[in-house]
Amino acid sequence: DNSFAAHAANQFSQYETDRQMKSTDALYATSNGVPMPHPYETQRVGENGPLLLQDFHLIDLLSHFDRERIPERVVHAKGGGAHGFFECTNPIPDLTQLDLFSAKSKKCPVTVRFSTVGGEAGSHDLARDPRGFAVKFRTEDGNWDLVANNTPVFFLRDPAKFPHFIHTQKRDPSTHLGSGDDSTIFWDYLCNNPESVHQVMVLLGDRGIPDGWRFMHGYSGHTLKLVNKAGDWVYCQIHMKSMQGAKFITQADSATKSPDFSQKDLYDAIERGEYPKWSVEVQTMTPKQAEELWERQRINVFDLTHVWPQAQFPRKKVGEFTLNENAVNYFAEIEQAAFNPAHMPPGIEPSADPVLQSRLFSYPDTHRHRIGPNYQQLPVNAPRTGFRFANFQRDGSMAFYNQGARPNFLSSIDPIQFRDRTVDLDKTHGHFTGHAITFLSEIRPEDFNGPRALWQNVWDEPARERFISNVAGKMALCREKEFLKRQIAIFREVDSDIADRLEKATGVKGYDGIKELRFNGTHNGMANDPKL
Ligand code: HEM
Repeated sequence: DNSFAAHAANQFSQYETDRQMKSTDALYATSNGVPMPHPYETQRVGENGPLLLQDFHLIDLLSHFDRERIPERVVHAKGGGAHGFFECTNPIPDLTQLDLFSAKSKKCPVTVRFSTVGGEAGSHDLARDPRGFAVKFRTEDGNWDLVANNTPVFFLRDPAKFPHFIHTQKRDPSTHLGSGDDSTIFWDYLCNNPESVHQVMVLLGDRGIPDGWRFMHGYSGHTLKLVNKAGDWVYCQIHMKSMQGAKFITQADSATKSPDFSQKDLYDAIERGEYPKWSVEVQTMTPKQAEELWERQRINVFDLTHVWPQAQFPRKKVGEFTLNENAVNYFAEIEQAAFNPAHMPPGIEPSADPVLQSRLFSYPDTHRHRIGPNYQQLPVNAPRTGFRFANFQRDGSMAFYNQGARPNFLSSIDPIQFRDRTVDLDKTHGHFTGHAITFLSEIRPEDFNGPRALWQNVWDEPARERFISNVAGKMALCREKEFLKRQIAIFREVDSDIADRLEKATGVKGYDGIKELRFNGTHNGMANDPKL
């Protein structure tokens, strides 16, 4: 069949064959499919003359090579992942209309990418750094991306601080030196933004270096909303609990491992048939409980430097996912994967958390830049809906699936179909919990409750000692004593024991507390002088 239709159909069906193709079954050819006798031939004028512009084979080769690199992720550049599936074990249709959570045994394919945050694509994957934990659930109602970390809290609650904070982890604009041997700007940022202290404790504590990706939990961190069929909703936090257990590795041991330790550990485990699994669990809270939590315990659900107390808001298991398939082609299936917190099928919605709200913009924005405007058409990103979907987006570079002859506008002759709205918009969107955004940049006594609980109730004595040693080690690389005095004062607000031990370990006498301090990035709501 010589029709274009037959050719195009063949192209689509070739995808899986190409993915599994062996060299012994393939004939060497240029990108337009013209066979060549050998890859090392060039067309040349005479024996020692210049090359010819007509040598398409060589130009084809070199020009594609010249374009091999796409921008690496601006954060989370070093990572790896795998494919697998999710299965619902304990449906929660009373809480959410999310198709995936609607019935026992409901399954969908997933792709997961794990990463470190600050380092470049070739950096060490056992760096002391939060770990990214991004999951793409290909549900029947479109893709849901849970773009999470392995820590329940974060360094900031004001999105405008994110580029500032991240820049302190990147290369110096003048010397081009990395921050590994000099922690001065790291402490400069942190000692001026004390709301980071909860995450700093997690980072410099045992959980700062997980023993490979298989042995760490994931957390949405942000408060999200679950909306049921009636339009009633609750706030939720999502946890992904490693069914292998959580394990960590010490600073000293991490230095003896390969820079691709976590990548290899995951890849090899899957090849051995030891498929890692995570249990997906939710904490939920009504809007009224959220108001009360603020009134009584000063925990703001839109502030991701705080956690929800698990005794008050217990976790409920919903399902499990298993990673049982390594990528066949890393670039196509993991590097070009585009995870976006704004990808939410009906039943799950963003809360008003300002950091989450900003992320909803930032991810698809970077994807258009990093991969191109039609990145959603790539197989790893393409949804696998339970219906045929179509829309009015057309053209742009690399428009592979360009929706054929269908009208590119809302046509009355060839009308597209719509799903009826199921929820009462007034119910889901008519309510916002107050208070949250009034103190984005104000530090308050309750900011120290979470880290204090870590120090006093969660960690045992050896864990505390490792934390002090990790912080002191990092402080030894700081050129500016003033930053250390301030950071010790911040730790003193968490627990004076931490400050005393750090003073001993570093020989630096910290300030008594933060009451007299002015912060560069944060209004000091605990200051004696209200102008601070
Ligand atoms: C990656 C922005 C906070 C988790 C990224 C990327 C950007 C970004 C631009 C690169 C995405 C790509 O190239 O595909 C931001 C901004 C934040 C923020 C502006 C705050 C204002 C967070 C938080 C979490 C998080 C709070 C976790 C709770 C991740 C993960 C990735 C990522 C897991 C890697 C995704 C992948 O593996 O492809 N972030 N981020 N980020 N971010 Fe964030």
